[in-house]
This record gives sequence, structure tokens and C-alpha cells, in this order.
Amino acid sequence: MPAHSSARSEPYDIVLLPGDGIGPEVMREARELLGLIARRMGLQLEVEEIPCGGRYYLEHGTRDWPEGAEERCAAADLILLGAVGWPRPDGKGPVSFPDGRMAGHSAVLGNRARLDLYANVRPVRLLPGVSHRIHGELKQVWQPAKVDLVIVRENTEGLYIGSGGRFGPPGRSTGAIDDRVITRAASERIIRHAFELSRQRGRGAPKDGKKRVTCIAKNNVLHGCQLFVEVFREVAGHYLDVDPEVALIDSFTVSLLGEPERFDVCVTTNMFGDIVTDLAAALQGGMGMAIGCNVGDAHGMFEPIHGSAPTLPPGRANPLAMLLATGEGLRWLGERVSGRALMVAADAVEASVRTVVSAGAPLTADLVAEDRAATTQEVGQAVRDEVARRL
Ligand code: IPM
Ligand code: MG
Repeated sequence: MPAHSSARSEPYDIVLLPGDGIGPEVMREARELLGLIARRMGLQLEVEEIPCGGRYYLEHGTRDWPEGAEERCAAADLILLGAVGWPRPDGKGPVSFPDGRMAGHSAVLGNRARLDLYANVRPVRLLPGVSHRIHGELKQVWQPAKVDLVIVRENTEGLYIGSGGRFGPPGRSTGAIDDRVITRAASERIIRHAFELSRQRGRGAPKDGKKRVTCIAKNNVLHGCQLFVEVFREVAGHYLDVDPEVALIDSFTVSLLGEPERFDVCVTTNMFGDIVTDLAAALQGGMGMAIGCNVGDAHGMFEPIHGSAPTLPPGRANPLAMLLATGEGLRWLGERVSGRALMVAADAVEASVRTVVSAGAPLTADLVAEDRAATTQEVGQAVRDEVARRL
């Protein structure tokens, strides 16, 4: 991600948004990790937790987080988000606002829009030692060296603008429309971000070492995608060292699973990005390993991309995505403020997760056999022990 100059200095103001379900559980591990890093590195990290999500809405009636939370997020140097979404007591879907928006919306989609977090950067890397659960069995399907790409998802428009509605009589709609907006300006900045990222990574696609940006679209059908691809070709003209290609979203899904080593950086519109990054999580060992970095020019919010998994019993959630997201958040902040200690801490977090995963234990039941499964807290502690050894 591009570095920005900034006047920010210590103490760093970090807002944690734990959310619902397993969100608070994995966030507890992140919070402990931040505490450890602060102590070991002599860093002043001021951490404030703000409740949010579907349960908050159920308990409070009108809002899905407290008054003033918007301003606190806008003032923060870094935001970490757990997960939001909580089932309605009658079991008919998630807790929602009267207008149909999911409760928890403010923290995720609200922050993305309000803070102009226009790039949702989702690295897809398979760490050595990670197995995949397929048909209930653990298998090593993909080779770690061949799964190393990044999906860059446009994060402010597309099908997520919230415009549209239902028509027909109340209680028995006869139809619904969701408007999808694709603008030249938003397309251009996200596509530039993808090309810059490919340059910055520098190592290219694992298959041929070529720097490549793949534009994922449905431009054989959709107007918005036709514009997106048009802008892609224009921007590509300014990056002659990067190989541009356009892939149709449907056939891309097959290539992604069949030959992930072909890809370096992929860029796409909001909804397609939402879907293909969950698919790409399968390459990483599942949702417990995949992270999303929501970044704009002035703010950053980092999260695991898994949901709140409200039915998962306590202690079962894999905290590694949350911990990796915490590390990437520190790296992003470190780049912005030229904070070397933050970058050192970020490297230590990533290396520590790699060490724990390659040792094969302790890991949660998504990654190892049930009889060897460790708890969320045990995995978090193992990562912290490694971080402590390194810092
Ligand atoms: C994600 C999530 C969100 C999204 C939900 C929670 C609104 O699925 O970050 O991918 O759709 O963007
Ligand atoms: Mg998603």
C-alpha cells in the first residue's frame, strides 16, 4: 500500500470494533497481542473498544453502535474490526434495521463509505503447513509457493450503494431493484491502486514471475463492467512494466482454483470482490485465514473476512485471520507515520503466525483433526509467545 506522510505521532489511537459472535473472541486475542507489542517495543498504543453489531441493536433499539462512534472512528489512527451480524430471535435472518440494512452495517459498510476506505485489499496466501478441509477430511491441496496473489476490491460503490428498493404492496412485494453505480473516478483510483500494488510487490505471479493485473468483470453483459474495463485499459497504458489482462468473472472462478499461480494482483468491482475473496479463502485454508485491509488516503480498517459465526461454540474460532489483520494494520500505520517500530512489530506478527502454522500446533479445528484441536485462546497465546520471542 502506498505510504503517506502524516503528522501523527504517539500515542497511536486504535479503535477496536469487536462486533458479534466470534468477533469479540478473536478481538480479545488481538487486544492481548497489541498489549504485548506495546510493552515489548515501548510503544504507546491507546486502545479503545467500541461495541457494535446486531446484538447491540437488539439491546439498544435504534442504533447499532453508540452515539459518537462515527467520530471516534474518524479520529482513530487505526481501526480493527472483528465481525458483525446476529440472528433475529425468531430465526428469520439477521437482525436488521426497519429499512432492511443489516444491524452492524455502521461499523462495516458505514465506515467504508464514511471514511472513504476505497480499496479493500485482500491478500490470498497459502502459508506452509495449512491443510484444507474437503469432504470433512484434511488435505494439502494447493502448494504454498503457488498461492500468492492479492485481490483488490472496490469498496465504495457498485451494488453496495444502498440505492433501490422494493415495490408492490407492503408485506407482499412484487419486485425489488438494487442500483449498481460504477463511476470513472472510483474505477480509476482502485485500478491505479492495483497497478501500484503489483509494482510494489515486484515478484509477479508465481507461475512466470510477471507483474500482472487481472481485471475481473462481466463486460460481456454489464454496462458498469464495460466502463470499468475501459478505464482499466487506459490506466494499464501508464504501467507498461505490468501485464494487463481482463477475465470474465465466471471463468475467473475456475482459473483461480485451477491455476492460482497465474495471478499476481486482481482488481474488481465491489460485489464481485466480495464473492471471489470468499472463494479465494478456500485456497488459504478457509475463512479463518483470510484478511481484508480497508484503506483510503486518510484512514484504515483491518479485519478478518470471516463472519460472526453466531452458532460456533466458544473457543472454537480461529483467531489467525484477526491476528494477521492486526499485523497488517500495524504495517499500514507504520508506513503512514514512518514508524519503524510498528513495521518491526508487523513483521514479527506475520512471522509468528507462520511459525505456529508450520509447526502444526496449536491450531483450531478448521485446520487440524478434531482430537488435536486447540482453543482460540491457546492459538492466540502461541502466537504471542512467538512474538515475544522475536521482539
Ligand atoms: C465482507 C463482508 C461484508 C460485505 C458484509 C458483512 C456486509 O461479507 O467484508 O466481505 O459484504 O462486504
Ligand atoms: Mg464478504
